[in-house]
Amino acid sequence: MQGREQFATRFGFIFAAVGSAVGLGNIWRFPYMLGENGGFAFLIAYFICIALIGLPVLLAEFSVGRRGQSDAIHSFENIKAKSFGKIGGFLGVLSGTLILSFYGVIAGWVFYYLFSYLTGAAGNVESGEFEGFFGDFIASSFGPVVWQFLFMVVVIGVVYFGIKKGIEIANRTFMPMLAVLVIILAVFGLTMDGAGEALSFMFSPDFNALGDINVWGAAVGQAFFTLSLGMGAMITYASYLPKESRLPSAAGTVVVFDTFFAVFAGLMIFPIVFSFGMEPGAGPGLLFMTLPEAFGQWGLGGTIFGIFFFLFVGIAALSSAISLLEVGVSWAMRRFNAGRKPTTLIAGAIITVFGFLSALSQGAVPALTEMKIFAFLNTDGDTITFLDTLDLFTAQYTLALGGFVTALFVGWGWNKVEALRETGLQDTTLGNLWIWFLRIVAPAGILYILITNLISMLTQ
Ligand code: TRP
Repeated sequence: MQGREQFATRFGFIFAAVGSAVGLGNIWRFPYMLGENGGFAFLIAYFICIALIGLPVLLAEFSVGRRGQSDAIHSFENIKAKSFGKIGGFLGVLSGTLILSFYGVIAGWVFYYLFSYLTGAAGNVESGEFEGFFGDFIASSFGPVVWQFLFMVVVIGVVYFGIKKGIEIANRTFMPMLAVLVIILAVFGLTMDGAGEALSFMFSPDFNALGDINVWGAAVGQAFFTLSLGMGAMITYASYLPKESRLPSAAGTVVVFDTFFAVFAGLMIFPIVFSFGMEPGAGPGLLFMTLPEAFGQWGLGGTIFGIFFFLFVGIAALSSAISLLEVGVSWAMRRFNAGRKPTTLIAGAIITVFGFLSALSQGAVPALTEMKIFAFLNTDGDTITFLDTLDLFTAQYTLALGGFVTALFVGWGWNKVEALRETGLQDTTLGNLWIWFLRIVAPAGILYILITNLISMLTQ
């Protein structure tokens, strides 16, 4: 049997894990969640969830992957033949497929915007018209499918070339570009008139909203999504690691960079929002309607900013989508005993075609736009689009459930001494703290959120 693929360098793995974590979750989802959930309060809740649930579960996924040396399902079985752990793996392959199908659609919109800024089409949109520009585009039956398709072709192309030649090289190129772009954009944002208001929105202490359970629900969901947790992406990446590397410092690095990108995304977006007197709580349309309105009022500067901005978002989305595809590919390669290339093409094609349903669910096909089934997942309407169905279903349920199973598996299922040895933490205070976080704190937090989501769903 051929040996398992490996990252060429330790940094290759870190770049890939950071690349997976930093994505639409940081730049599109985080700012609008922050805007909708009161700014500072959400930031605090989010930091707490990252520290108490995100970091321990991330380290747990790294440990399972490196020890298991296989895909998201089989890694659990390799550690313990008969265990509930692999349920987490099944959920993972399922959620990865569902998430990528709609993630590619939103990333397609991003690339359409980049293209429109480059051609000048977006720069020519009249003030107040971006809602129509965006609405017409996503409701058409051609554009969204084509852009999603193009995006997926690139994602499939990278995964096709494997770990060293595809994933590692792509991430080593993208991550430094991202860091430079976000710093330039944030410095730019901070020189604008609205910077003061933006800073006080994000950082001025207001602890009242912390009593709102919905803020916590949103924060846990965001923590899972942004760290790529709960669906085996980090298990899969860690399975390509050689034995030597230190997992706790890798986990710490991912969390620090991911948080850095989210906070900087806020620092570049909110000054613009406030400078032009826009609404911070605009929701998912913040990136596609609110910001472009602001860019538009700014003339040529706005067009240039728009180009850099959507380039930045597009690259971030690409490196995350790569990790989502790799989960399914890695599983299917083992399951069907097939080579990487055919597996990538087939898995990629299935997910892309399934994604057409999401691409067409924004007005093009009424049956997909106004779905009644699963409408209960939505808190503010009696119908829901196919895309939102997948987003809410995965973010609120399957990811959390996957993380729950992984935490319990490492905390209770796996032999404690071995789990600790895998991380290199041994029987230290830190090591024991980690185990107890996985045993009690993380599962309790996740369960609480799952139950309150369920209750609010059933009682509306
Ligand atoms: N973390 C990515 C983002 O913030 C999205 C992502 C990639 C993801 N892989 C994942 C989310 C696995 C959940 C699970 O955009």
